[in-house]
Amino acid sequence: MKDRNELLELDKECFGVDQWDNELWQEIFDDFEHNFIYLVKQKNELIAFLTIFNWGKEKNYVKITNIGTKSSYRGQRIAHKLFETMISEMKKEGIRDFRGETRVSNYPMQKVFSDFDFTNVETYKDYYDNPTEDALRFQLNFKL
Ligand SMILES: CC(C)(COP(=O)(O)OP(=O)(O)OC[C@H]1O[C@@H](n2cnc3c(N)ncnc32)[C@H](O)[C@@H]1OP(=O)(O)O)[C@@H](O)C(=O)NCCC(=O)NCCS
Repeated sequence: MKDRNELLELDKECFGVDQWDNELWQEIFDDFEHNFIYLVKQKNELIAFLTIFNWGKEKNYVKITNIGTKSSYRGQRIAHKLFETMISEMKKEGIRDFRGETRVSNYPMQKVFSDFDFTNVETYKDYYDNPTEDALRFQLNFKL
């Protein structure tokens, strides 16, 4: 929780008007049973984050809910490292199904999904606001 303010600042830098509001962040901080937050720090600086929602036994999949790397640190495979760590940890918890989505124009994020063998399973029309844009939904399934 000591990183809370820096995390919200980084979210703002990454998403601008689309950043999560305080209420939504509070819901996450209030439910660490399902929500996991991965932080990447260099020295004392927060440079990247990944949040997921683990449905546990209820639905048995992990939803990638948010990810961002500080602009001056992008392109250094930090998002890849976050995915690698998260997928390996969640597999140990028994999760075999991972889901997420991104804007059709977000090529760096699509590259991360495809490098981890996620497949584009669906398009959600006008899913995003500011600006209105379709979402590509990605899914990764490991065989049991
Ligand atoms: C998406 C985001 C998290 C990626 O973080 P990152 O730490 O820079 O990611 P990585 O370096 O691990 O990987 C990005 C990949 O995209 C590639 N890439 C960058 N621009 C690209 C483009 N225009 N077209 C295709 N690929 C591109 C990079 O080359 C890299 O792949 P490589 O390592 O195989 O060369 C970062 O760009 C970000 O914070 N964006 C703003 C917030 C956001 O959009 N989050 C995702 C919401 S779903």
